[in-house]
Amino acid sequence: MSEKDVNVIVLAAGNGSRMRSNLPKVLHNVAGKAMIDWVLDAVSPLNPAQLITITGVGAQAVKAHVGDRSDFVTQEQQLGTGHAVQQAYPKLKNSQGVTLIMAGDTPMFRTETLADLVAEHQRSNSAVTVLTALAEDPTGYGRIVRGDDGSVLKIVEQKDASVTERRIREINTGVYVFDNQLLFDALTRVKNDNVQSEFYLPDTLDILRQAGHTIRAHQLHDFTESLGVNDRVALAVANETMFQRINRQHMLNGVELVDPKNTYIDAGVVIGQDTLVEPGVTIQGQTVIGADSTITHGSRILDSQIGDRTTVTDSQIEASVVGDDVTIGPYAHLRPNAELADKVHIGNYVEVKSAQIGEASKVGHLTYVGNATVGKDVNIGAGTIFVNYDGVHKFHTEVGDRAFIGSNTKIIAPVKIGDEAITAAGSTITDDVPEHAMGIARGRQQNKADFWDRMPHKKDS
Ligand code: UD1
Ligand code: CA
Repeated sequence: MSEKDVNVIVLAAGNGSRMRSNLPKVLHNVAGKAMIDWVLDAVSPLNPAQLITITGVGAQAVKAHVGDRSDFVTQEQQLGTGHAVQQAYPKLKNSQGVTLIMAGDTPMFRTETLADLVAEHQRSNSAVTVLTALAEDPTGYGRIVRGDDGSVLKIVEQKDASVTERRIREINTGVYVFDNQLLFDALTRVKNDNVQSEFYLPDTLDILRQAGHTIRAHQLHDFTESLGVNDRVALAVANETMFQRINRQHMLNGVELVDPKNTYIDAGVVIGQDTLVEPGVTIQGQTVIGADSTITHGSRILDSQIGDRTTVTDSQIEASVVGDDVTIGPYAHLRPNAELADKVHIGNYVEVKSAQIGEASKVGHLTYVGNATVGKDVNIGAGTIFVNYDGVHKFHTEVGDRAFIGSNTKIIAPVKIGDEAITAAGSTITDDVPEHAMGIARGRQQNKADFWDRMPHKKDS
C-alpha cells in the first residue's frame, strides 16, 4: 500500500484555565522550551504536507512565538476539541491523506513514537488509530472502552464516565491518526450532549465504528510520554521527566552528572565529554560547554559559551563567552557580554559586564569590571572598581597588556592605562596612565603625634 500524505493538526486554542496563568498554556516551558515547541519539533520530522496549529485564547502570543513554523487556524469560541479540529476543514478538505492530531499540552512525545503510529496506521486499513497508554492514575484522561473481544468501542471522558469506566486504566493520549476524509465526515456528526457541553474529538471513534469502519488503538506500555499538562502539578512532573531524559542523554555522551535528579539542563544545551556537573546546577538557553570542565553546585549558566578545562565554582554566568582553562568563582557573576580569553582567573565576588579580558589575566577578589578592554597577563587587585557610569552614559576603560592595577583602585572612565603601566593601590585614576608609568592618585598620609591624649574619652577616664 502506498503511503499517503501526512497532515498534522496541533490543538492549542483552549484557555488552559487549570494552569491559573496569564500565559497561554502551550507557551509554558518544559526544560526551557515551550510545550508547543516540543510538539512542533516532534512532528516536523514527519514532513507534514500541511501543519496547522489551532489557536484561540492567546492566539496572538502563540502565533508570535511559533512564527512560520506552522500554519494557523483560529477557533473563535472554544467549543471543544472536535470543534477545534473542524476549523481546519477549509485547509484540509481536499487532502486524500491521513491527519495526525495531537494537543499542544502533551510535550513528552518523541518523534519515533509518532512516526510508529503513523506507519502502523498506514499499514492498517482503519479509519483511525488512536494512541493509548496504561496510566497508574488515569484521573482526568479519557478512558478507552473496549468490548469483550478487546476491540475499541469508544472513548469516555473522565467527567462523563461511569464508576466502572473510571476504573479503566487505559487512557486516550490525545494523539490520533485519521483518514482525513473520514475524520471531517465524522466531525459533522459529533454532538455536545455531554457534561461539558463540548464537541469532543474522541467521539468520532464511536461514530466511525458505528458507521462500519475499523477503529484501532495502539497501546504504549510506558505512560511517560503521554503526560498531558493541565495544571502546575503536571507541569512540574513534565519538567522533572524531561530533565531526566535530557540528563540521561548527556551522561550517555560522557558528561558526568553527580546527581542527575538535581541537575537542570535545558533542551538544546551542549556539553563536552568528561565535563563534571555537580548537584544543583542550572544550565539554560543556548549554552555550549566544552570538554573536561567542571561546574560546581549552585552555578547557573545562561546563553553562554564555556571552553574546555574551565572551572566554574558556584557562580552565575549570563550571555557571556569564556575560553579554555579559565577559573571562575566562587560567587562570581559574569553579566551579559563578558568575554574571557583562555587562562583567565576570575576570583570570588567579582562582577564582569560588557568587558573583554585578555589571556591569563587575573581579577582575584571583590572587583567590578564593566565596559572595558583588558589586555593579557594583567593583574587587577582586590576591590578595584571600573567606575563606568555617570547615571546617564557608560564610559569605556582600556587596560594594556601586563598592566598592574593596585588594590582598591577606582578607574573613572573613560581612561586608558597603557601596557605595563601600574596604578598605586587606593588610587582614584581619572587620567590616562602611559605605558610603563605608575599612576598614583590619593591623599598623602599624615600622622598626628600624641593624638590619643586629645581623644574625648580619655578625659572621662
Ligand atoms: C483531552 C481529551 C482526553 C485525553 C486528553 C489527553 C477531549 C475531549 N479529551 O482531554 O480524552 O485523555 O486530552 O491529554 O479531547 N483545545 C482547543 N479547543 C477547544 C478545547 C481544547 O484547541 O475548544 C485544545 C487545548 O488547547 C488543548 C487540547 O485541545 O491543547 C486538549 O484540550 P484539554 O482541555 O486540555 O483536554 P483534556 O481535558 O486534557
Ligand atoms: Ca490536556
